[in-house]
Amino acid sequence: MPVTSAIHDFVAVITFSNPPVNGLGQAIRRGLIDALNEALENDAVKAIVVTGGSQYFSGGADIREFNTPQVQMEPSLHSVINAYEASTKPVIVAINGTALGGGLELSLGVNYRVASANALIGLPEVKLGLLPGAGGTQRLPRAAGLENALNMIVSGTPVLAKTLADTRLFDRISQGDAQDDAIALAHEVVAAGKPLPHVRDWKIDHPNAEGFLGFSRTAIAAASGPYPAPLRCLDAIEAAVLKPFDEGMQVERAGFMALLETPESKALRHAFFAERAASKVTDIGSDVKPREIKRVGIIGAGTMGGGIAMNFLNAGIPVTILEVKQEFLDRGLTTIRKNYDNSAKKGRMTAEQVEQRMGLLTPTLAYADLGDADMIIEAVFEEYDAKKAVFEQLDKVAKPGAILASNTSTLDVDRIANFTSRPQDVLGTHFFSPANVMKLLEVVRGKATAKDVLATVMALAKKIKKTAVVSGVCDGFIGNRMIEQYSRQAGFLLDEGALPQQVDRAIEKIGFAMGPFRMGDLAGNDIGWAIRKRRYREKPDMTYSKTADLLCEMGRYGQKTGSGWYDYKAGDRTAYPSAEVDAMIVKHSADIGVTRRKIDDKEIVERLIYSLVNEGAHILEEGIAAKASDIDTVYLAGYGFPVWRGGPMFYADTVGLSHVIAAMNRYAKGYQGDAWEPAPLLRKLADAGQSFNTTAKPA
Ligand code: 3HC
Ligand code: NAI
Repeated sequence: MPVTSAIHDFVAVITFSNPPVNGLGQAIRRGLIDALNEALENDAVKAIVVTGGSQYFSGGADIREFNTPQVQMEPSLHSVINAYEASTKPVIVAINGTALGGGLELSLGVNYRVASANALIGLPEVKLGLLPGAGGTQRLPRAAGLENALNMIVSGTPVLAKTLADTRLFDRISQGDAQDDAIALAHEVVAAGKPLPHVRDWKIDHPNAEGFLGFSRTAIAAASGPYPAPLRCLDAIEAAVLKPFDEGMQVERAGFMALLETPESKALRHAFFAERAASKVTDIGSDVKPREIKRVGIIGAGTMGGGIAMNFLNAGIPVTILEVKQEFLDRGLTTIRKNYDNSAKKGRMTAEQVEQRMGLLTPTLAYADLGDADMIIEAVFEEYDAKKAVFEQLDKVAKPGAILASNTSTLDVDRIANFTSRPQDVLGTHFFSPANVMKLLEVVRGKATAKDVLATVMALAKKIKKTAVVSGVCDGFIGNRMIEQYSRQAGFLLDEGALPQQVDRAIEKIGFAMGPFRMGDLAGNDIGWAIRKRRYREKPDMTYSKTADLLCEMGRYGQKTGSGWYDYKAGDRTAYPSAEVDAMIVKHSADIGVTRRKIDDKEIVERLIYSLVNEGAHILEEGIAAKASDIDTVYLAGYGFPVWRGGPMFYADTVGLSHVIAAMNRYAKGYQGDAWEPAPLLRKLADAGQSFNTTAKPA
């Protein structure tokens, strides 16, 4: 039963349950109304306690219902809150765990609130491109104070209940079971027999509310850029201050309905579900039991090995790290400690926590020390010979059932698996640099990888707070294979008439964290150069602009050498346009006989994004990615694609796939048209009027 009632003396305890997070779906809303009516009609009941049980009060409105007929069905969340607010018997909510969004809004509609000290309290709607639409913008400022409420609503970040103890929001902060305390409060309230308080009647107390709102508007407008939700939140909060309650509710309602239809909110909701869907692998059911990972081994304490180790240390999992020489081991450990010390200096962890983490790390030069590791991750040089030497050793020393992973970014994981006698235990774990910071983890499933090995690593990824996406084996996996096409287009744009700063500006203007040339300068242009040298041998038909090679021949590897596509000044990461580079590009166009033309921003953006989309379609068709939303998740978590645009495949769906093909056909008529052959899947879906993400919508 989604909603149950039990009578404790004269208190009706209404408990609702809708796993996984007690979303306030249609059945719950109906049940809450029925239970309320029953309690009101029962003369033996003198007070009502509402609870979501021991873990979640509620994660809010059931977002799986958005854009479905259920969301329109009565009783709406508004009707439920209104009914509880109108109750003639005192109503108390007991918040034992998380109360978010509509869950918190429901609690604001009743007379009294009891929360356990560590319950998470928040209005995260802004993160879905929305504003709290069931009275949160009107009641929270009245209950928690204007400044607290504005911070919570505009940032969407939840806080612990105890941090709001000095506001009017909670009548009692509970150190034990909030339900017991709520029942105790019910007894007191009934005994006292005072008039029932309603948050809607409270005044917002602030010495200079209008000044504060004006200041906040400037700050929010500057921080939110093209993304509309934060300012709409502010509009509604301002109405709470300036208008009577019911008028404020109307402003909130109008804002919510307008935001619900925005592409930004649709994209953010897609991103939310896409990330969660990525962790589910179609052919791996709950019958597949993950292996236990109590200790991890890492081979190589370089850039990646050190960062990877930190993820496990942070999660309290002991790590043994192996190097070829003591000096490399020392260097690796020094870097890890330095990173932790820096975090401590910034106040992100205590000195004690640094020592705790370092205490979990065991350095070694001996493979025998890896015998007790449940999983071993290799992060040595990117060469088959180096990988072969390591995996042959691991095959000898690793215990039976240990998972053997490679952090390779370009090599064939199936070939690496065959360096061992146990390819079923081998897979790729492609971390991104810096590995202790970047959220994305591509989990590369080899031909022989056992299901429980994949299930283990997906579960482990969650434990170390990574966003894991499964990729099949191919050169570059999902993310880098696509970025290569994007980089090619960026290069062709230079040949045809654009300059790096124009390309970067155009794509950054639509929300990318960094354009391709600033990104190249940050990552090191020599990395792409090495890959292209290999490509020239392996795929001589694949064309590239020569400008990136010419840049490297000039020694301009990027920030690390003080110059790249841009000039840099010592101690300053600002990218300054370079006359030398511009001249090289213009000369190169002349050398290859291309007449430079003015290229507008629209063309730049389309060519960069559609090159990603087309390669993404190949990746999907080949089964390298299981679903389009996985590709979106890779780009959102690892490549700075703007989250409110939902990822490249969702972006293409929004534009319409036939429009994407039409644009590609236009570009195919120009220079370097060979890059624009639409992937068969893209063509097929466009012809059928379908989109990539039809299968990624939540159930
Ligand atoms: N409705 C429906 N399902 C939800 C949900 C919601 N509000 N929130 C989470 N879920 C689902 C997830 O999709 C996931 O499902 P799955 O297991 O099938 O993949 C499951 O719950 C667990 O979610 P997480 O993996 O995110 O679990 P965590 O424990 O890490 O986090 C959480 C839980 C903090 C509740 C987090 O999921 C979250 O932040 N959810 C979004 C909450 C939110 O935005 N609420 C506001 C909704 S809008 C609203 O209330 C409108 C109102 O103002 C009118
Ligand atoms: P790195 O050169 O910084 O570190 C490699 C380390 O491995 C060195 O410290 C070296 O001494 C050690 N090593 C070499 N052979 C060894 C062996 N046989 N046994 C033990 N240690 C050995 O290289 P980096 O950048 O950390 O790359 C490691 C792997 O991660 C490569 O496969 C690379 O392709 C991959 N990768 C790198 C990324 C990056 O941005 N640097 C991103 C994603 C993957």
